[in-house]
Amino acid sequence: MLSSSRVALLGAALTGLSLVCSVRGAVGGPSNYSFPDGFMFGVATAAYQIEGAWNEDGKGESMWDTFLHKHPDYTPDRSNADVAADSYHKYMDDVAMIKDLGVEYYRLSISWPRLLPNGTDNNISKAGVRYYRKLIKELQSANITPVVTLFHWDLPTPLMDLGGWANPIMVNYFRDYARVAFNLFGDVVKIWTTMNEPHQHCYNGYGSDYFAPAIKSHGVGEYLCIHYILLAHAAAYHLYDQEFRPNQKGKVGITLDAFWAKPKNNSKPEDIEAAERYLQMHVGLFAHPIYSKEGDYPDIARKRVDSISLHEGYTRSRLPTFSPEEVNALRGSSDFFGLNHYTTFLMSPSSWEKTWLIPSLDSDTGVKLEQDAKWIKPGAEWFSIYPQGFRKLINWVTNQYGKEIPIIITENGMSDFGGINDYLRVSYYNEYMAQMLMAIYEDGCNVQGYFAWTLMDDFEWKDGYVSKFGLYYVDFDSPEKTRTPKQSAINYREIVRTRRINFDFIKKPSPAQFNKL
Ligand code: NOJ
Repeated sequence: MLSSSRVALLGAALTGLSLVCSVRGAVGGPSNYSFPDGFMFGVATAAYQIEGAWNEDGKGESMWDTFLHKHPDYTPDRSNADVAADSYHKYMDDVAMIKDLGVEYYRLSISWPRLLPNGTDNNISKAGVRYYRKLIKELQSANITPVVTLFHWDLPTPLMDLGGWANPIMVNYFRDYARVAFNLFGDVVKIWTTMNEPHQHCYNGYGSDYFAPAIKSHGVGEYLCIHYILLAHAAAYHLYDQEFRPNQKGKVGITLDAFWAKPKNNSKPEDIEAAERYLQMHVGLFAHPIYSKEGDYPDIARKRVDSISLHEGYTRSRLPTFSPEEVNALRGSSDFFGLNHYTTFLMSPSSWEKTWLIPSLDSDTGVKLEQDAKWIKPGAEWFSIYPQGFRKLINWVTNQYGKEIPIIITENGMSDFGGINDYLRVSYYNEYMAQMLMAIYEDGCNVQGYFAWTLMDDFEWKDGYVSKFGLYYVDFDSPEKTRTPKQSAINYREIVRTRRINFDFIKKPSPAQFNKL
């Protein structure tokens, strides 16, 4: 029996489906295009969000462990990821699920404090090494290629205590950690991403208190974090280049996140300009130093933060400066563009919003973000569905940084409040992937891979276990953390199998059929 709220939710999902379909302008059947030969299909996860076993076998604490133990009220359900989906013990099940989806790639992250309990390379945990070796071996026997992220936000607490990414010494510590990882796993791991979504990490964790470490050093700490995380990325890239690439012959990139920035009113030049400014200040801040021909921070960011800082009475700009050697080290320091995309915001210029801290990246950017009330909002408060934004964003990245750099969609997926009959997620994936195919075939964008976020329901940071992104449902109340495929898993498997989207494959039940579910 379904509860009335559940029925309401499913009803909303049905309405949602038709709205999303009408956006695409087609109602069913197979997609016009099939995925190119060699296109990489994968699923992604992150260590802290799934592994659990937070203090087992000598694992050190990450700053998320420490923060959530100190602040149990941070999440709406007072949860943390001490156990999460228990992948530390259930990794064989995870691999079986990935295999069942038919994808050939799995993007996972290494927990830095599981490998180096103090964060430093003088103490390598044997159990940590064993765990990742076992997991990678299991993947290999299932013919699944690992794509490994070194830093997906779970910084070792002893390094956080030194100021985390605001401290320049982190560049060295990250290089040391990367060396350990390349040494230990580089024989089998051939695709690495150094950092996951440094924008979200620095903006929410250093610039505000939305994410751990909740430092709220807005306008100052957030730029230090950005600056040193970029330099740490470049250090790891060059380390690989010099010491490992000749033998290991792998690829190293970075994963950046981006909302699509849609001008609130397309006929207003100031909204168009605001949207472009937002993209430069949020994506360009990371991408320009790495992927542009000139290197360094985008001009607009340099000028705005310099002049606003001066105006505020600072002796020097709150945005640190790269030396010419650092500009060179960063330029070209990525073999691919890892892109995470979820949603779109409407942009218009603003000199002040009450949610902005002063100074901050927000107030330096001077752009107001809203979402259209007509867009479906299926879960997390920041999340609305606007598939067309995906194609636009892929085009923007291509136009900015060129067709030569391969784009890998390292995350894309939908937030809801749970359940296995996730018809709206089916539709989200169909529609977003269709937009990506158009970017590839109609616009000539060089997208070479796609990773669905995420394999299974997990710990969703600020939302705890309340909002869900999984292709597999996880029963967090069961001791076994039982995993069950959702409709979206079945649909994704079919896309991967046929290398085409079939908009009719998962039929949306009629409301009458829904009531019988
Ligand atoms: C991006 C992050 O990399 C991931 O950890 C998070 O769960 C998803 N966004 C969804 O919010």
